[in-house]
Parts: sequence; structure tokens; C-alpha cells
Amino acid sequence: MKKRYLLGVFLLSCFIAKGQDSTIKSSVKNVEAKVDSVLALMTLEEKVGQLVQYNGSWDLTGPASEMNNKQKEENLKAGKVGAMLNVLSVEATKEAQKLVMENSRLKIPLMFGYDVIHGYTTIFPVPLAETASWDLEAMEKTAEIAALESAANGVNWTFSPMIDVSRDARWGRIMEGSGEDPYLTSKVAVAKVKGYQSNDLANPRSIAATAKHFAGYGFGEAGRDYNTVHIGENELHNTILPPFKEAAKAGVATFMNAFNDIDGTPATAHKTLQREILKKEWDWDGFVVSDWGSIPEMIAHGLARDKKHAAQIALNAGSDMDMEGGAYESSLVSLVEEGKVSQEYIDDAVKRVLRVKFKLGLFDDPYLYANPELLENISFEEHRNVARDVAKKSIVLLKNENDLLPIQDSIKKIAVIGPLADDKDTPIGNWRAQGEANSAVSLLEGLKNNMNKDVEISYAKGADLGMGERSFLMPLKINETDTSGFQEAINKASEADLVIIALGEDAFQTGEGRSQVDVGLAGVQQELLKEIRKVNKNIVLMLINGRPLEITYASENIPAIVEAWQLGSESGNAIADVLLGDYNPSGKLPVSFPRAVGQEPLYYNQKSTGRPSNPTHVTYSGYTDEKKDALYPFGFGLSYTNFEYGDLTISAEELTPGSPIEVSFSLSNTGEKEGKEIVQLYIKDIVASTTRPVKELKGFEAVQLAPGETKTVTFEINEEMLQFYTANEKWESEAGEFEVMIGGNSRDLQTVKFSLKK
Ligand code: NOJ
Repeated sequence: MKKRYLLGVFLLSCFIAKGQDSTIKSSVKNVEAKVDSVLALMTLEEKVGQLVQYNGSWDLTGPASEMNNKQKEENLKAGKVGAMLNVLSVEATKEAQKLVMENSRLKIPLMFGYDVIHGYTTIFPVPLAETASWDLEAMEKTAEIAALESAANGVNWTFSPMIDVSRDARWGRIMEGSGEDPYLTSKVAVAKVKGYQSNDLANPRSIAATAKHFAGYGFGEAGRDYNTVHIGENELHNTILPPFKEAAKAGVATFMNAFNDIDGTPATAHKTLQREILKKEWDWDGFVVSDWGSIPEMIAHGLARDKKHAAQIALNAGSDMDMEGGAYESSLVSLVEEGKVSQEYIDDAVKRVLRVKFKLGLFDDPYLYANPELLENISFEEHRNVARDVAKKSIVLLKNENDLLPIQDSIKKIAVIGPLADDKDTPIGNWRAQGEANSAVSLLEGLKNNMNKDVEISYAKGADLGMGERSFLMPLKINETDTSGFQEAINKASEADLVIIALGEDAFQTGEGRSQVDVGLAGVQQELLKEIRKVNKNIVLMLINGRPLEITYASENIPAIVEAWQLGSESGNAIADVLLGDYNPSGKLPVSFPRAVGQEPLYYNQKSTGRPSNPTHVTYSGYTDEKKDALYPFGFGLSYTNFEYGDLTISAEELTPGSPIEVSFSLSNTGEKEGKEIVQLYIKDIVASTTRPVKELKGFEAVQLAPGETKTVTFEINEEMLQFYTANEKWESEAGEFEVMIGGNSRDLQTVKFSLKK
């Protein structure tokens, strides 16, 4: 024991000595030995300290704990804090780090976390929008840039990616994720983890990522935030967990648990999820941070009597770090002393935290992320170019009657209308980190920057979307009555060859705590659209929004509709690229757009039921007053050219484990413009030991084609792609018949059959 202690002292002193003057990070090879050596030095109080995270008070994203800043400072000095969040800038993080490094006994460096959700200073499309690009390389790149800008500002840990599969447009946080499909979300999860963390967390330009919210948060009942989740094992394993499993496999440094309860157990108290599945079955060695205050919130859930009880439940369930909840710091020491929490569990949690800190290189240089040179050398211009590139790829063309788009040369007068047409703030979206307010290129600016000078552009707002102030904490009060600007807009529209009208949602209409019962065009927007249509039918509707919207009227009456989401800093330029035809739109919806809000939750990969709708009984498993399918389905998106799919051929009708088969088809560009088609592969398991979805995305590929060009596209189908969580409670495949479906969206597909023999 004594020998171990001495080794610990020796190793620790080496790290600290090195840390004073070296910027070279330690190799992660010996991390385990180093972690053990530090742990051996720690008192119980110091161990508990590593499990405590404080908010820096700059940017409150939840109810703050009652502790004042002076006390927080004292606790930092005493080594009673393991991490902070919302401490921003090189100076501020350096100051906080100094308190620890110059005063605490063991000098264990802090981690600094922040919600870098779609960029730090340079703002990229909100995650739901970015997923519409289906461009994993681009998504990795934007994460890499966000990491660099964060690292250059002292932040070494982002609470992203959010990989909660979500199928409910009412839920405001649907904008933060990758939509309704577990396969697509899994792919994005891996791309994001790679982008943030690079191959090596010890790279000073990369930061630790967080897979959140573990688990089920996107399934809140009735789309209400923080709400109860009713899901069974089947849904949990087949739909919700796959992206988390992939993130864990990709080496994500941390997980965040969730505010919701699942079938009676708050995620923060979920031992099966955190200890059994994540840490044991998946053998993942990072740490789980609670969501903000989610440990004491178990009192309101009615699971814990008080903070101490909440701390006991959370730690025992495998929640390693307490984010601004004040429960661990006040109770864990006594809980261990009373034998209610084991020393072994505490040690495991602490080791997980130390491991990430070692991997981040913080023991070598606690000030590694407080390096002003990194910031000085950033080319923000380059970052904005990337932002424009990914933004244009994220745009989805929903309707284009009579090829109204791209804007034709004959158009000489354009009226740009709408509350969001010259809005420089909304495209920045919610969860904007340090993205400056009003810093986006607006749609109007984008057109003016990029349009031929001989085209006359007039502008009228028409109406305000909201009234008064709004912010992260305070939602916008929607303008339901003021139509005083309509007449000017009508006049301008009536004089123009083409009207571009920008409608949708305010930046803070989506995000945390932003659930809505109505997902149509809020306030007087639809009325404005109808009035404009009376004087000019040549309308392009630009949707600027964070959630899927119900746009049935527009889809029936407006010739061209473009989904332009909240695209970030370069929004207007990217939109202009598409409207002017400099970029042929290639985005595809990652989420179904409803015909009516009453269809929610709405998703393509539903179960069949025992009485699926059929031509004689259209209302079976549907509605009497509306169709049951989406207005615009998952995977949908048009192009300025046309793609024709040839017949499917399959290399063999039977596959066995280890011997994949292939499905091929020709894809032709039959139009006049070069374009990119995201081809999608879906599979249906016809008979299985549990009911299975009517189809599931299992592959996709972007195919670029010149006009008149044809390419053969081939997908491999292997046994792993057929695995699911079976009635045996195992992830495995079952022999039998399958359908493979291929097409350009989840509705219009060709099908062939094959079987799996085992
Ligand atoms: C609460 C949110 O649910 C979570 O996603 C976020 O990371 C934390 N607040 C920290 O801001």
C-alpha cells in the first residue's frame, strides 16, 4: 500500500512539474496507471470534488444553485470542484484554473464545458437543418471548426451532439437533434464525435464531446419538454439506444443523462441504462454528467425525499458528475460514511473523470486551452466559407411547380417580403453559443450580394413575427393582430415579376422549453401569404424555422417552397446560391412534415399494426379527417434536375452471415443541370419475433451526376444490417424474408425481396 502511495506521489509530481512549462500532451497509453496513481492520493472529499460541476454564472440555462460566487471560489481553491460550465474566454478560464492550480492540494485541473451546439463564433445550421445535408464529411468539418473556436476560447468540452431521436414537431428541442431516424442519427453522432474530438483528444485543437441526453428525452409525452416518457424495451433498444451505442463506440468522452423519466425511473436514476448497458455491456470508459440540476430535480419527480437522497440514488445509478445541482457536494461524503454509497462506486466515478482529463492533456498543461495564439491564428473567413457551403447543402427544395426556381433571367423585378426576409438574427438560431446577435447574412442581403445588378429588388416586411423582447430565457410573444404593414407588402408584390416571401419561426421559438401545440405558420404570417397571393401568384415561400412545420395551405397553393431552416452565419448567401441556381439543391428531410399537428408524433418507420390502412378502409390505423401519411416524408427533397431510377437487380436472393449480397440499379440525370441525389436504402423484416417497422433506413449515398449521365449504384446488404433487439432480448438477426427498398425518399421506393439463411 505504501509503495503504491509513493508511486502515486512520484507520478503526480512528474505530471505537475511537466505541466508548469510544457505544452506537449501526454500519450494516452499509460492513462490507466496515471489515473490510479492520482486516485491513490485523494481523500474522500477530494474525490467528491471531482464529481462536482459549477456554473460560471455567465449564461444560466436552468435554475442556479443557491451558492454565491465567493463560496464557489473558495471551493475551487480547496479542490472541491471537478469542472465548470459557461466560463468563457481564455482569461476567464485561466483565472478559474489558477484558483485550482495555485491553491488546491492535488492541483487536479478543471474541465470547462459549454453548449457549443452548432458553432462557437461561426454559426452553422442548427443540427436538424445540417442533418438535411446528409453530408457526414461536412458535419464532421463543422464540428472540427466549432471545436477549434471553442478550444481557442478556453472551452475544452462541448455538450454536443444531441442524438435524441425525436418524432414530435411539437417538441422545441427537435431542432437540436438529427430527426426521426436512428440510423441517420447514428451516422451523424459518429461524424460529430470525430469532428469535435479528432482521432486524439490530446490534440489542442480538439475538445471532448458529449452524447446527450441519455436516454429517451426526445420521446416526451405530447411533445412537452422534460416530460414523462413511456417506452418499452423494444423501442428503447431499437430506436433510442443505437445512436448512443455508436457514439460510445466512436469514443465519445462523456455522456449526459436526461431530465425525463422512463417508465417510472428518471434517466438520472437509471441504473440499467447507465451501469448495466452503457458502462458494462458497451464497455465505455468515459463519465456521465447529469443534466443541469437533474439530480435534485428527482425531488420534484417524487423519487427522492431530499437532495441527499437524490445524490444517493443518482450516484448509485451511475451518474458520475453533478451539473450545478449541489447534491453531490453537500451529501456524498456523508453518504459514503453512512455506507449508503460505496467507496467502489465513488472511485469508479472519479477514475472516469480523471481519465478524460488525462486524455485531454490537462495534467500535462492545465492551461493548454488558454492559449491566445490559437485564437489569433484562426481564419474566420475560412470558417464562414465552410458555413456557407454546409448551409447551401442543408436547404431542401419542397416544391417547384413549372420550374419557378432557379430564378430565371426573364425576372427583372423581385419583391422580397416577410418578417424573416431581412432578419439577421433568426438564422443564428437558438443555442447560439457566442454567435453574435444579428450577425447572420439575411435573405435580403444574400440576394443583393449575389444577384445580377440589373434585377430590381424591393422589400417590405409585411408584418412582425413577434412583439417585444425575446431571448433564450423568454420566448417571443407572437404578433396575432397587427397587419398594418400588409398594404405596403401587397403593393410591392403586385409590381413584381416574382415574390420571395420569408416566413417561419423566430430563433427562440424552438429549443429548450419551447414546446408548442400548434406547428403552423405562427401569428399573421399565413394571412399575409394569402393576401400576397391575391395580387401575385409567382411566389417562392422561403421557410426559416427550426422544427417541421404544418404548411398544408402553402403546399396546395404556392408554386415553390424552399425549406431554409435556421442556417447560421451565412444563411442569406447560401439561400441565394440555391435561388440563383449556383447550387442545385440536394438536401433531404431528416424528419416528416405533417399535414396536421394532430398527426404528431409522425415518422416513416412506424409499425404496420394489425389493420393497416388500405384502399377500402383508408381510416384504419389512420384518421377520418386527414390522411395518415406525411405531407413531405422523411428523406424527401427535390432538385433542379430529374433523377430516374432503373430497375433493381439483386446479386443473389439469399444471404448468409459472412456472405453479403448486393443490390444495384442505374441512376440517370435526365434533366439539364448537374445535380446530386441522395439515394436511400430501406429494409423491411417481414416476419420476426417482435413486430418490426414497415421500413428502416439502412444505407444512403450521395451520387453526383452531370446532365444525361448515368451511373450504376450498388449497395451491399449484410447480416449485421438485419440485426435488431429480438424477443430473446439480444441484438441479433433472424432468418427469414426481407424486402429491400430503394429510392429518393422514404415514400417512393422500388422493392425486391431476399432472404437470410442462418
Ligand atoms: C440543460 C440542457 O438540457 C442540456 O442539453 C444542456 O447541455 C445543459 N442545460 C447545460 O446548459
